[in-house]
Amino acid sequence: MPETSTPNWGNVPESWTRRHLLGLEELGADEIDLILNQAERFRSVLMHGDRKIPLLAGKTCVNLFFENSTRTKTSFALAARRLGADVVDFTAATSSLGKGETIIDTAKNIEAMQVDAVIVRHSCPGAPKLLAENIQSHVFNAGDGPHEHPTQALLDILTIRQRFGSLAGLTVALVGDIAHSRTARSNIWGLKKLGANVILCGPSTLVSKNWEKLGVEVSYSLDAILDRVDVFNLLRIQFERQVVRPFPSTREYAHLYGMNSMRLAKAKPNVLIIAPGPINRGLEVTPDVADGPQSAILDQVTNGVAVRMAALWLGLGL
Ligand code: NCD
Repeated sequence: MPETSTPNWGNVPESWTRRHLLGLEELGADEIDLILNQAERFRSVLMHGDRKIPLLAGKTCVNLFFENSTRTKTSFALAARRLGADVVDFTAATSSLGKGETIIDTAKNIEAMQVDAVIVRHSCPGAPKLLAENIQSHVFNAGDGPHEHPTQALLDILTIRQRFGSLAGLTVALVGDIAHSRTARSNIWGLKKLGANVILCGPSTLVSKNWEKLGVEVSYSLDAILDRVDVFNLLRIQFERQVVRPFPSTREYAHLYGMNSMRLAKAKPNVLIIAPGPINRGLEVTPDVADGPQSAILDQVTNGVAVRMAALWLGLGL
């Protein structure tokens, strides 16, 4: 692979002032657009030209993951490497956390080895913010409990924007385990700021009416909303976060809330199916729909690297 003949990428725009990426709640629509536009630029170079754009050469990023991850961890690592940065993986299971060390002490010790960025996933909401307040490095939130997962929402939104051109006026339904989903929270902030209408759909044990306070619609019937939705974002049932099982059986859930070809036939002809992954095939979505022409699930993964490159470049450029 050629090292690169770098186009002139310029400096981080003056309008970007954030050293960290903690969540979409705090970002304005202009900041979200800026990340998406930069991600598009990186994506088109990655797809059609060089795989390395060494804007972060000499920088070191640490993947500090206290929860499992397939896509997000690999995607952040690839994004950093494609920008020329070094990446170190920290594995919580084999760390001194088991010996009683706090997350701040762990991060400070890693930082003392001269790192520039910490990419953190943790089961506690607010863990990335806590680190940002206590260490010098740039902090990127890779998912904090059920709170936020900003880069996931950004890649979801980029995928929608690529298909429809704009988010304004679109109706996006988040279906499934809203209660435990950080993806849902970040999507709600991002989608609303860019002018989309948001419907939350799932059983009442997973979608409370209280969500309406955020300016979204709540529906307990997937069948009732099928024909007026442009994008279905099918969220995983997060059994690992549930204290009590929220529905009698997975079969019943799939019957009422699973996306399948019969439901797809009643949806808009150009409806888009996305999912953050991992998907439980046959539960949230049937394999024929997940792998079918309306699905952009793998495009999301491709977009994830570009979005994370944009986030890292913007944050580390300050
Ligand atoms: C999501 C997560 O971890 O929050 N997955 C991801 O990052 N791709 C959603 C999920 O686990 O269901």
